[in-house]
Amino acid sequence: MKPEHHAGGRQADQELLNTAVRENMARIKHKIIVMSGKGGVGKSTLATNLAFGLGLNGYKIGLMDTDIHGPSLGKMLGIEGQVLIPSPSGHGLIPIEVKGMKVVTMASLLQDPDAPVIWRGPLKMGAIKQFLGEIEWGDLDYLVIDSPPGTGDEPLSVCQLIPEADGSVIVTTPQDVALIDSRKAVRFSQVLKIPVLGIVENMSGLVCPHCGQPIDLFKIGGGERAAQSMNVPFLGRIPIDPDIVESCDDGHSYIYEHAEAPAAKAMQAIVAQIIEKTDRK
Ligand SMILES: Nc1ncnc2c1ncn2[C@@H]1O[C@H](COP(=O)(O)OP(=O)(O)OP(=O)(O)O)[C@@H](O)[C@H]1O
Ligand SMILES: [Mg+2]
Repeated sequence: MKPEHHAGGRQADQELLNTAVRENMARIKHKIIVMSGKGGVGKSTLATNLAFGLGLNGYKIGLMDTDIHGPSLGKMLGIEGQVLIPSPSGHGLIPIEVKGMKVVTMASLLQDPDAPVIWRGPLKMGAIKQFLGEIEWGDLDYLVIDSPPGTGDEPLSVCQLIPEADGSVIVTTPQDVALIDSRKAVRFSQVLKIPVLGIVENMSGLVCPHCGQPIDLFKIGGGERAAQSMNVPFLGRIPIDPDIVESCDDGHSYIYEHAEAPAAKAMQAIVAQIIEKTDRK
């Protein structure tokens, strides 16, 4: 075959995939992208608990991890080692079910979770396109999308592939350095015309288990100030709770299993605002 035929064939494949992405996404009412300017601020924790929280409100949920280099949702959801299987129709792959939620993470495509993925931008875009187009998501109310830290290829691909997304949720911690980065994430979302649903300040204070007094480990209130200065909504602050670390490590649903804890209540309030801004607007 001549090279141009190859190229033409590839282009036709791409167009099929683009159509599959559009058709799949049209069956999902709302898409929410969780992102941050900085690593380790709690995006995956929030994405997982948002997804569980929306599910507890009766919605049908999908959760997708686009963190190609460091997918962590598999561990957080206790589905490490489970791989996606082809659907009986042969047209796609079936997401993994966790408590009624449809989950896809890069780790569910990799046989060896410890193997580093060495991919450049276009390949990442291709992988995310396949996640959106070749996974049988079915009819869903919400797809929550977790991103790796920063404003790189993965969130860029997601924003470009789902231009109709309801919006982004930007996670930050209260320190000044994290806030500078969260401003970048706000700008990134705005430049890509994805509405900013709001900023969440995570790891915002800790209640001393001995005396019950609050300790502002990373200061407090910065997320709200950043939201005000960028003129975007502030969705709330989530305190530090060692049970969150435990739940993340054990594949448990924190928002459900510790429903009475202040951090879970803060998450529930964030879920309620997201429903208000997307489904009830
Ligand atoms: N409010 C909190 N209280 C206590 N621990 C928390 C809280 N939020 C997140 N964590 C813990 O902090 C660690 C980092 O969280 P997480 O993996 O969600 O961050 P991330 O932003 O997704 O990181 P990355 O940028 O690497 O993707 C995890 O061990 C998680 O359990
Ligand atoms: Mg993460």
